[in-house]
Amino acid sequence: MATVGRASRTEDQARAADQLRQGELVAFPTETVYGLGADATNDRAVAAIFAAKQRPAFNPLISHLASAGMVADLAYWNDAARALADAFWPGALTLVLPRTDDCTIALIASAGLDSVALRVPSHLGAQALLAAVGRPIAAPSANRSGRISPTTAEHVNQELGNAVAFILDGGPCEIGLESTVVGFHADAPVLLRPGGISLEQLEAVVGRFSIGVDAPESPSAPGQLASHYAPDKRLRLNAMEAAPGEVFLGFGPVSDGGHNLSASGDLIEAAANLFAILRRLDQGPGSAIAVAPIPETGLGRAINDRLRRAAAPRS
Ligand code: TXA
Ligand code: MG
Repeated sequence: MATVGRASRTEDQARAADQLRQGELVAFPTETVYGLGADATNDRAVAAIFAAKQRPAFNPLISHLASAGMVADLAYWNDAARALADAFWPGALTLVLPRTDDCTIALIASAGLDSVALRVPSHLGAQALLAAVGRPIAAPSANRSGRISPTTAEHVNQELGNAVAFILDGGPCEIGLESTVVGFHADAPVLLRPGGISLEQLEAVVGRFSIGVDAPESPSAPGQLASHYAPDKRLRLNAMEAAPGEVFLGFGPVSDGGHNLSASGDLIEAAANLFAILRRLDQGPGSAIAVAPIPETGLGRAINDRLRRAAAPRS
């Protein structure tokens, strides 16, 4: 079981903030559900979230911010997004916006997409923690994959007590339902996930929404999602070496001494490196990327899921 501190206690906030800055996982309350938090700017810490949740795939995560003023360095605003943030932040609204070029949020938190999901929560414990950390905190709901979202610290301890260093207890969540996720198509708002703020409330501020069909969590065949990150280069999986014209991406000892997802064969390190290395290789020489076999265990399943999607034939 994890150590539990009080979200309203300054010392516990400081301890949680220190652990987050050191790359540890900390569960914390928000007004919607409890989040499993990591420093959003630390690829390895964000990868550890997926390992703790035992997620079979890398879904993009919400990064939590102390204030709307932090958005400008991370993402590009549009008018509708600003109006929604003015109306509902701090609160149960998540905005999916295009990443700036120098966005410091780890690519794995975007699951390789060109966008980031951002939210300023209203829970006072969450606000104190975010202010103490001074960085965005990536956090999905603090449950194991496929289980319901936790709304008390006790639920979190049952679900993830062995995987998380510290839990901040802020009492039962006021809303108890995840945040509403809004994206934009050509600056027009799209509902990607219904949640704590209703469509009627949103439409009262910015007018008619379209309902998204491309939420990353909606059922889809590999490659069906236009928004899924896929390299321009062809990808060949389970390769033992590069063929002519290919660049090789190794894992552990299966390596040509060049690029390697993790020379020590560490799947958390490999996950943390995956999207950044694929982007780099996609922009470099060679017409295809040959990837070494990744074991189908732990985070290897999520890595293979993304690699298979990226390798799927595209029209
Ligand atoms: O209330 C909440 O939203 C809670 C608390 C902890 O903030 N968090 C939460 O996170 O529910 P999670 O990871 O369970 O759900 C994140 C949602 C998913 O539906 C995901 O697909 C969507 O946000 N999302 C995140 N980044 C996205 C992106 N770049 N594009 C589209 N959807 C994105
Ligand atoms: Mg969830």
